[in-house]
Amino acid sequence: MRIVRVDNYKEMSKTASDIIKEQVILKKDAIIGFATGSSPLAVYECLAEDYKNKMVSFKKVRGFQLDEYYGLERLHSQSFYYYMKKNFMDKTDFDEANFEAFDALAADINKECSRYETLLAKSDGIDIQILGIGNTGHIGFNEPAETFPDEAHFVKLEKETIDANAKFFANTEEIPKYAFTLGIGSIMKAKKLIVLVNGRGKSDIIKKTLCGPITPKIPATVLRLHPDCTLIADKEALELVEDRLEEK
Ligand code: GLP
Repeated sequence: MRIVRVDNYKEMSKTASDIIKEQVILKKDAIIGFATGSSPLAVYECLAEDYKNKMVSFKKVRGFQLDEYYGLERLHSQSFYYYMKKNFMDKTDFDEANFEAFDALAADINKECSRYETLLAKSDGIDIQILGIGNTGHIGFNEPAETFPDEAHFVKLEKETIDANAKFFANTEEIPKYAFTLGIGSIMKAKKLIVLVNGRGKSDIIKKTLCGPITPKIPATVLRLHPDCTLIADKEALELVEDRLEEK
């Protein structure tokens, strides 16, 4: 794992967006795995800015959604689909028809997981997967477990994850308790991973992710086994592991 230590959120976002931009310039029909949440938000702002300045076009890019809440309408203000539409698709020339997403209202959840996994398997594979790390060490919505789930699946969210997302919903009944997510196997098959972490609040989980044993109880630890994984983190997120980082 390559660790890029940056000063702040802005630098983290610019560093990540430059890598993604370069990939899309080199391969116009690149496949990108899109994460949501607060960590990648400014990455999408930077990419939209680069598009505005005619530095890159996303017209031929295909996107795969990393995860999605179960039970929310596609354009619900808190759905991950809507997040991507509002923060990226509507601000660039990305073609919404090229965005693959879970059907959050699917009646048959197993069938929906197979459909999504097959779609991904039939593609040329994700060139860049963008990721954040949740407070439980989850990636996508792969919560702590006894084994690393391989394929797309349906999950019951941990209380800590539900609590972390509560601020985005008007009342507790509205907060989704279940979600769809790509599996760890699907994530690890991406050719390149860009992991974004910022803020002191993530320093404890970063220490466990980087220094503890590789275990499905902290799903993010598996990222250390990926051949091309770049973790871009600010100094606050890295503050508990500073002594272990090599000087450049
Ligand atoms: C959320 C999402 C993940 C996200 C992670 C971190 O619950 N399911 O895709 O990467 O938790 O979120 P944030 O970036 O807001 O800290």
